[in-house]
Amino acid sequence: MARIIGGIGTSHVPAIGAAIAKGLQQDPYWKPFFDGFIPVREWLDRQKPDVVVVLYNDHGLNFFLDKLPTFAVGAASHYNNADEGWGLPVTRPFPGDPKMSWSLIESLVADEFDITMCQELQVDHAVSNPMALLWGAERPVKIVPVAINTVQYPLPSPARCYKLGQAIGRAIRAYPTDAKVLVLGTGGLSHQLDGERAGFINKPFDLMCLDRLVSDPEALTRYSVLELVELAGTQGVELMMWIAMRGALGGKVKQVHRNYHIPISNTAAGLLLMECEDAVVPARQLVDA
Ligand code: DHB
Ligand code: FE
Repeated sequence: MARIIGGIGTSHVPAIGAAIAKGLQQDPYWKPFFDGFIPVREWLDRQKPDVVVVLYNDHGLNFFLDKLPTFAVGAASHYNNADEGWGLPVTRPFPGDPKMSWSLIESLVADEFDITMCQELQVDHAVSNPMALLWGAERPVKIVPVAINTVQYPLPSPARCYKLGQAIGRAIRAYPTDAKVLVLGTGGLSHQLDGERAGFINKPFDLMCLDRLVSDPEALTRYSVLELVELAGTQGVELMMWIAMRGALGGKVKQVHRNYHIPISNTAAGLLLMECEDAVVPARQLVDA
């Protein structure tokens, strides 16, 4: 069966794409942010996942207010990147894994998640920037994108997103190949782009969330969406991508790496890498089993 080797949560701020295009990784503003990814890239070099299930929120590129699924799963052979208005360079398409997508879709629907299935899906900075941060231009992985609505009221609750993640975890673990799967949640942490509280950041809340994501994710599922808006800012609800990602990892996890840096654009930029317990079982035990 496919194996979840771990989960990564990362911010996806559009300015990251512009900084990469301009080669600003060593610039004093950007260095503390980009340096955070060095241990994660080393871990990816060792672990070599085959597929990345990317939990992200579309920002008005593929879905708009007229038609906005709560949860949508990509089932395409490739996903084109496009820029919904930030002036970012468009990257080449991301290869998909339609077989795994359809298996995930079947399993989610059987599990009572009535998702929208997308045989065509354009992906925005919430997919392209994290992929560039983790792999650069190489990206030797296929992706299965899963979009969660953070745009049009009413949003799914953190508890529902966590349950979606758990269902995704069950689906991956029942997928009959030996694929190594990474679950990626993008967005957050606290930020608000507009309105009276534009620029709002809540460091104590973010740090508490990073702790809880590792040790007690269910504590985060007790917040309502409106409480998250109050505590993390309107766009801080993107934390729900991280909560869903954590749901997929299952019971116990081991934190491998964490970085937190303020600000990147208007955002408190977070990075968290966790390994699933089964991924840290020594190889000999696996052979014996
Ligand atoms: C910013 C952050 C986001 O999550 C986003 O989608 C767009 C902009 C920002 O901080 O600039
Ligand atoms: Fe965003």
